[in-house]
Amino acid sequence: MVSVAEKPHVVMVPYPAQGHVTPMMRLAKLLHSRGFHVTFVNTEFNHRRLILSKGPDSVRGLPDFRFETIPDGMPVQSDEGATQDIPFLCYYTRMTCLAPFKRLLARLDSEDGATPPVSCVISDGVMSFGIRAAQEMGFPDVQFWTASACSFIGYLHYRELIKRGIFPLNEDYLSDGTLETPVDWVPGMPNIRLKDLPSFFQTTDPNDIMFDFLGEEAQSCLKASAIIFNTFQELEKEALEALISKFNYTNFYTIGPLPLLGKHVKDGEAKSLNSSLWKPDSKVFDWLDRQKPGSVIYVNYGSITTMTGQNFQDFALGLADSKQPFLWVVRPDVVKGEEGESSGELPREFLEAVEDRGVMVTWCAQDEVLAHNAVGAFLTHCGWNSNLESISCGVPVICWPFFADQQTNCHYSCEKWGIGMEIDHRVRRDDVAHVVREMMVGEKGKKMRLKVEYVLDKPIGVILDKESLEFATFDVEAHQKHIDN
Ligand code: UDX
Repeated sequence: MVSVAEKPHVVMVPYPAQGHVTPMMRLAKLLHSRGFHVTFVNTEFNHRRLILSKGPDSVRGLPDFRFETIPDGMPVQSDEGATQDIPFLCYYTRMTCLAPFKRLLARLDSEDGATPPVSCVISDGVMSFGIRAAQEMGFPDVQFWTASACSFIGYLHYRELIKRGIFPLNEDYLSDGTLETPVDWVPGMPNIRLKDLPSFFQTTDPNDIMFDFLGEEAQSCLKASAIIFNTFQELEKEALEALISKFNYTNFYTIGPLPLLGKHVKDGEAKSLNSSLWKPDSKVFDWLDRQKPGSVIYVNYGSITTMTGQNFQDFALGLADSKQPFLWVVRPDVVKGEEGESSGELPREFLEAVEDRGVMVTWCAQDEVLAHNAVGAFLTHCGWNSNLESISCGVPVICWPFFADQQTNCHYSCEKWGIGMEIDHRVRRDDVAHVVREMMVGEKGKKMRLKVEYVLDKPIGVILDKESLEFATFDVEAHQKHIDN
């Protein structure tokens, strides 16, 4: 048996939002189950939230899976139960995290006995200070791009949007059809429109933080020794091929369907390590157990999306009119009413119409919900993890993209993979009811359910080999056998 001190030591630092912490934790557990010593670095703010959601034991760690923290640099800490302000978080992590992260690496590398010297740093694709720290200190560095390869290619073209005079957009871009413009100059992404590119270019402000941040962070990834993409060959073949043929970039690896591979982690203490920033409500499973197979529409907008009070009312009434059983997850901070607008209160008409046909909670264990056989479709904001989790469970999607890569993911789900239908961004009660019915009991939905089943025909991933520290093909079935023995 290899002692803790002899194991290769990987230090992993996710961007501090749920959609990044979750896939990084899945990757960490996989590497741990393959013999790595893992140090998982959260922000101090998120560390406190993890303790709030599942108690101190969940982040106490193991002798060979340790948690460490760095400050996120935010001058004012927001409510501990709510999503942090994303543009500020991007700005402050970029400006302030390098120094504390380097200090942490230096300490970890010099600790005697219990902690092996640092072998490699894996930082989130939007935490480029991780590359800088690793390179300045002489450690191999890998970026983990937690979203799709298509979104990455989209962000790589932000500079091109400036060159072509498209960014910043003109004042009337929301009404003058600009976003419908066909785009034929992005390799690996044929037949897209401007609106299918990651959304942060949709602004008239030339100094927009998010435009600059994502465009530049994606470019920085190319400077790392390697990039791991949270995707798999079968899903994004064209985009992955374009990285090689058009960008001449070959130092990347696809990890495979990570939500599925996450299930192949050895049972034991590491399996229970926590990455949920909210406390999941377990009553949903009693309710799901009482529903017919494939009958429930599951509705969840991820960890960041917000909507107006009017949007919320239309979703409620649309779900009521659809007459389908639903599990609706509404985060306490999801409704962000505009001034003078109605809040997130449920309309009386909704309450009278649905009676016990639906259940509402503030957070749930989404991967387990999607795996439940009562769930027939997923109304999602199209965060990449939600997309992957849905595909991994063979569940088609109804897309209501909010921002970032979600527009791109929506386009691929609906137009390319044929496993999704879109709800217009303005949200109309009739539209919600119609699309939900069509998906749950209509012909289109039936076809999509069949289609999504075979997206995952042969899940083969690629993972770091612990002896050579090189990447090797990762076969799910072989890995399962290795664990069973
Ligand atoms: C963000 C971005 O918005 C998204 O576009 C990007 O692709 C990743 O980062 P988020 O909006 O939170 O993420 O969406 P998503 O990628 O779907 O990640 C949310 C994660 O939280 C998923 O793994 C999901 O399973 C989990 N979750 C969400 C729960 O476990 N329970 C919930 O109730 C809601």
